[in-house]
Amino acid sequence: MAGRFPSRATRPIPSRLGGAALVLALLAGLAGPAAAAQEPRADSPEAALRHLATAQGKHIGAAVAPGPLTGEKPYHSTLAREFNEVTPENALKWAEVEPQRGKYDWSAADRIIEFAQRHRQRVRGHTLVWHSQNPSWLANGDFAPDELRGILRDHIVTKVNRYEDRIFAWDVVNEPFNEDGGMRETMWLRKLGRDYIATALRWAHRADPDAKLYLNDYNIMGINPKSDAMYELVRSLKRRGVPIHGVGIQGHRILGQIPDSTEENIRRFAELGVDVAITELDVRIPMPASEQELRTQAANYAQVTEGCLAVRRCVGVTTWGFTDRHSWIPDWFEGQGAALPFDEQYRPKPAYYALREALAPGNGRGRAPSAPGSAAPATAAADSRAGR
Ligand code: XIL
Repeated sequence: MAGRFPSRATRPIPSRLGGAALVLALLAGLAGPAAAAQEPRADSPEAALRHLATAQGKHIGAAVAPGPLTGEKPYHSTLAREFNEVTPENALKWAEVEPQRGKYDWSAADRIIEFAQRHRQRVRGHTLVWHSQNPSWLANGDFAPDELRGILRDHIVTKVNRYEDRIFAWDVVNEPFNEDGGMRETMWLRKLGRDYIATALRWAHRADPDAKLYLNDYNIMGINPKSDAMYELVRSLKRRGVPIHGVGIQGHRILGQIPDSTEENIRRFAELGVDVAITELDVRIPMPASEQELRTQAANYAQVTEGCLAVRRCVGVTTWGFTDRHSWIPDWFEGQGAALPFDEQYRPKPAYYALREALAPGNGRGRAPSAPGSAAPATAAADSRAGR
């Protein structure tokens, strides 16, 4: 099944040189103001976010679109240089993968995954069950519950099986809650009942027992009725022995609105015995963005990243895109934009430097011990069952 791709066990191990180079860079920094002034350039490998994150035992990821990946050189090179994990932004959604019933199109997803493998990046799968971006045959099919159940099972099993060796984690259910903590009224809930979530998790687990299975939602960064609902759901799934391994906090934020309770919230999820990931971070700004707003945005990126670093089981941060040149924000939130760490010309913004500073050595209060089996997510050890 893995075909031309190396399996989990044989996958290349990311270079550890990054850590050594980092130490050298640090020593240079300690050598005095003249040396310190020669701060590593944004594009020097030792300063890249992925090396800093790996040294902290975390991932730094980005959502990726196949078009610019092949069409724009700076997109390609920035992504390869800075990130050790990718999430296909749309390419694994139902409408893309199974546009007609039973007819699968893997081309876009495969392009991204091949890129990731070439650049030693892990791949996060997004998503298996959602109310949005479903093909019309499914959304308008009005299937009887039993048939819908079979359709969902086939879709999950086919997708998870195909990428068994290449996708280490899946957002199994995306956005299952309303803001008040009630379950979102979707065709899944209506036709399959509340247990559709447990059922989807079980199917995914059977298809790939090694995959980390997540529930993912927005507006669950701080403590509020919606994150309370996620907390209770995960707790009850764990109690029932349903395979659930992580909570994905999307993190599409308005400028200046990072909840004070972010770290506490991450910690309470982790204490349930699951991983936590920031899966879709962006911070949108009314356009045009001022210098002051870009500085506030930088502080927002830092706060989220530090909240994650403070909790051992928070595995990392993924930004939803990485360049303002390709971001969903202007299309979806009128008059807003500039939400990502690189500008439209791929120049690093204050948010980029804030990420770099937050990930710098010494900032990981919750850092995992470096014993084998608890290594950085970008290493082979964490790709194995050891970290489960
Ligand atoms: C967005 C994509 O970025 C857009 O390109 C697409 O048009 C709509 O979906 N929450 C999610 C993501 O889980 O899948 C969404 O992605 C953003 C909100």
